Amino acid sequence: MSSLGEKRKSRTTLKKEKNLQELASNFMTQQSFGVIGLAVMGENLALNVERNGFPIAVYNRSPEKTDTFMATRACGKNVKAAYNLTDFVAALERPRKILIMVKAGAPVDATIDQLRPLLEEGDIIIDGGNSLHTDTVRRTRDLESAGFRFIGMGVSGGEEGALNGPSLMPGGTISSYEYLEPIFRKIAAQVDDGPCVTYCGPGGAGHYVKMVHNGIEYGDMQLIAEAYDLLKNVAGLDHNQLHQVFAEWNTTDELNSFLIEITADIFKHIDPETNQPMVDVILDAAGQKGTGRWTVETALELGVAIPTIIAAVNARIMSSFKKERVAASEILTGPVGKYEGDTKAFVNKVRDALYCSKICSYAQGMALLATASQAYYYNLNLSEMARIWKGGCIIRAGFLGKIQHAFIENPGLSNLLLAPEFKQTILDRQMAWREVLATAAMQGIPVPAFSASLDYFDSYRRDRLPQNLTQAQRDYFGAHTFERVDKPGFFHHIWTPLDEEVAQTSTPEPLQAQQPTTPTPPTSRV
Ligand code: 6PG
Repeated sequence: MSSLGEKRKSRTTLKKEKNLQELASNFMTQQSFGVIGLAVMGENLALNVERNGFPIAVYNRSPEKTDTFMATRACGKNVKAAYNLTDFVAALERPRKILIMVKAGAPVDATIDQLRPLLEEGDIIIDGGNSLHTDTVRRTRDLESAGFRFIGMGVSGGEEGALNGPSLMPGGTISSYEYLEPIFRKIAAQVDDGPCVTYCGPGGAGHYVKMVHNGIEYGDMQLIAEAYDLLKNVAGLDHNQLHQVFAEWNTTDELNSFLIEITADIFKHIDPETNQPMVDVILDAAGQKGTGRWTVETALELGVAIPTIIAAVNARIMSSFKKERVAASEILTGPVGKYEGDTKAFVNKVRDALYCSKICSYAQGMALLATASQAYYYNLNLSEMARIWKGGCIIRAGFLGKIQHAFIENPGLSNLLLAPEFKQTILDRQMAWREVLATAAMQGIPVPAFSASLDYFDSYRRDRLPQNLTQAQRDYFGAHTFERVDKPGFFHHIWTPLDEEVAQTSTPEPLQAQQPTTPTPPTSRV
């Protein structure tokens, strides 16, 4: 039996222990932001959040990665490492704000499934990977119907951007976004008119915008690759000259951009093993993770023409058939003979062609966003989309300020090509652009994205295209009907004796026009 004193003592001890526990649990709940996934992007974003004054907790599936992070880059910072999700969740203040930076697809679902039982109502999960927008819609619906909050956020800028200021494209329920806005505004890249983040729209809007960003990125990269091909193989520039040309282009209003800047830098690099320009020892077979293809797929579904971006995706596919191309190069010959024109003038024409093509590519991307915004009820503000791409992201460029202003001046602009500034630019340079394409064709240099862009421009500006013939053919072989230029309605012409026979024997029915495919929203207005 214990004495009264002992009982009192044990009560005091208990109280002390309880205080200590509370203290410890307070410490445990101090972290205001959590990051799951410590690969390049997750690690850098985590450090960015911490540097901006938000204590963080981190968790990575393999503990070795966490250990290395804690011992190196996180050392001395307000970072708490957790080695299981229970501890990770317990370390976060409520409502918990958890950024998932794992590979898009099944790993995102697996992480959410493991987290869910540990979370409480109102906690917020942010998926910062390159997720497919329809997956984001599904996850939003599942999580929000269970009382959690979910934000699907596009993050662009690579390693450097993630650490020092990315472009952020969040989508989801606006009240959830508002909770996170102060953090996002601090960690995003800062440009002249604010941080590179804005609420994109509900459901999958953020990931949709990021996907189109990537489609445009594919277009930009392919256009630059074609310019390089022309400068190297038509104008005959060596890597030093290529460096100079791209460095000079990067100082211009029109082409100043991250991708042109890194291209100029790439030409300076020499392979230490062979002493050759680094770019010359890299295999000419491009990879892709899927966002470019998704952009093409959604554009086809919505009926939006994005030929430059399609050409860019196709160009990567063609490049991947390396062995087959090498074999074909022995069999299929093309034009031979050197370019005889003025090299300096040609370089300037390539610059003009690149800029005109780039305008067409962005016109396509913005048109896709405008259509998706209506089809999926995103209510996207296109000038804001251009603004948040001005800094931090891979397509950041001075030129985006012009796009921003075009949509500020006319939010209902049906195509960027019609904005006064872009219209004039193209009209002034189109002859140079056409000459470059003619030269490329004569020299046998493939320029699929340059060509697709000029075709887009020429198709868009033509009041009459040859699809009257397409309609005639459709009606000829399948009685699909056509409209006429001189009166309303749908008509069928008797093209063949068989047609006439059918017409005489069948009961006349009112002609039905085949309706163009209408887009189906991924699900509802989530
Ligand atoms: C970004 C990039 C990035 C993308 C890579 C690779 O905005 O930071 O778009 O998200 O993953 O560019 O994409 P591909 O492998 O498809 O070229």
